[in-house]
Amino acid sequence: MYLGIDLGTSAVKTVLVDAAQRVVASRSQPLTVASPRPGHSEQDPVQWIDATFATLDALKADHPAELAAVEGIGLSGQMHGATLLDADRNPLRPCILWNDGRSAAECGELEQRWPALRATTGNKAMPGFTAPKLLWVAKHEPEIFAATRLVLLPKAYLRLVLTGEAIEDISDASGTLWLDAARRDWSDAALDATGLSRRQMPRLVEGCAPAAQLSRELAQRWGMRKPPMIAGGAGDNPAGAVGIGAIGSDAAFVSLGTSGALLVPTRAIAANPARAVHTFCHAVPGMWIQAGAILSAASCLAWIARVLRTPEAELLAPLGERPTAPSPVSFLPYLSGERTPHDDPDVRGMLDGLSHGTDRDAIVQAVLEGVAFALADCRDVLADSGMAITAVDAIGGGSRSRSWLSVLANVFDIPVHRFADGETGAAFGAARLGRLAVSGEPVEAVCTAPQRVETFEPDRSLAEAYAERLPKWRSLYRPRR
Ligand code: XUL
Repeated sequence: MYLGIDLGTSAVKTVLVDAAQRVVASRSQPLTVASPRPGHSEQDPVQWIDATFATLDALKADHPAELAAVEGIGLSGQMHGATLLDADRNPLRPCILWNDGRSAAECGELEQRWPALRATTGNKAMPGFTAPKLLWVAKHEPEIFAATRLVLLPKAYLRLVLTGEAIEDISDASGTLWLDAARRDWSDAALDATGLSRRQMPRLVEGCAPAAQLSRELAQRWGMRKPPMIAGGAGDNPAGAVGIGAIGSDAAFVSLGTSGALLVPTRAIAANPARAVHTFCHAVPGMWIQAGAILSAASCLAWIARVLRTPEAELLAPLGERPTAPSPVSFLPYLSGERTPHDDPDVRGMLDGLSHGTDRDAIVQAVLEGVAFALADCRDVLADSGMAITAVDAIGGGSRSRSWLSVLANVFDIPVHRFADGETGAAFGAARLGRLAVSGEPVEAVCTAPQRVETFEPDRSLAEAYAERLPKWRSLYRPRR
């Protein structure tokens, strides 16, 4: 039996997976995000621990026998967050999250201080990444910076609480701007440029390698026969890749989570930092992931549901399975700024083309289309970087919407595949990494592709209509800087 724990942005999700890779049970616990100032996005690390413990306590109550038999645990997590700990390993302030836009000025400073940043990390310095946040803290909260003894990403903090050890996996570490992406090790020059050193960094392991055992006390709390091993795990995007068997090249996939991404696993780094393409190390050795990342995807649907005080399912139902023409309304999904391709933390969303005749369905459809167009921007920069995508698998909460996948297939003009619910997702991928860490099985034997249950093929005339709309949609973007 294996456990996968995904520390997401809007929830912690824990899945229990058996030896036949069936999801036996899953529990999730919501999280909230605080925005104390416009553009700031923070979370209290205590929330992550309480939520994780709640999912495991619930599994213990309903599935004690299965939980007792857990041998391996994998962690997946929202990437890039800066969790700063003092000498007693307590958080010094709320974690600054991946969609926080406060450190734009520090990005420029960092690239100046360390001109090799792009060549070494494969990334452009963007505010979501971890390193510029530390420069911001050094400038605006110097006493906190001075007291910082350890800098952890969210799931490494969770692991610290679960095991007592500060360990990070290489895939998540590659979203910090402190990792030498080719060598898969911390870069001393990168740390130095941020006023830090290796002493403040966790030890690194590959995603499928053993990291540390769950503490005896917690193993007892959850009735586990023997403290299970916790694997390195992965950032949520690489973990999602593992969950759907996207471990070789030619396995492009799109993630419609709180954030969105179009991702291509590669056998060598194919960086394009100038166009805000992300370079991540994969959760399996010897592989990397090139990605276009957008900051708001399923969160746009959650936003419109909040505004209209209507559940998402109710908003989507009237659209039917396959919209027949583009909405007359256009939506820019930049609710918390954008990374690929604009790297613009200050831009904000927009609804364009409203008239007296505009109804709710037109706006909801425009929201789905706006996210799809933003992902088409990612597709184009990946194509310019040498990665032409001819079909994609879809994962993440948004992939449950058939109308959304149909829109994506038509905007991308390629087939989009969907998996059965429950088989996919970062938590499932994390459970696979937990298994690999204890079983010694070959990666390919465990990380197989789940069955695709449906394929959305583009419709010729609709794909043409969207291709015509895309330049108009693009022209709505006006940089605010
Ligand atoms: C990727 C990114 C998000 C977060 C939260 O670069 O910022 O996908 O990992 O999901």
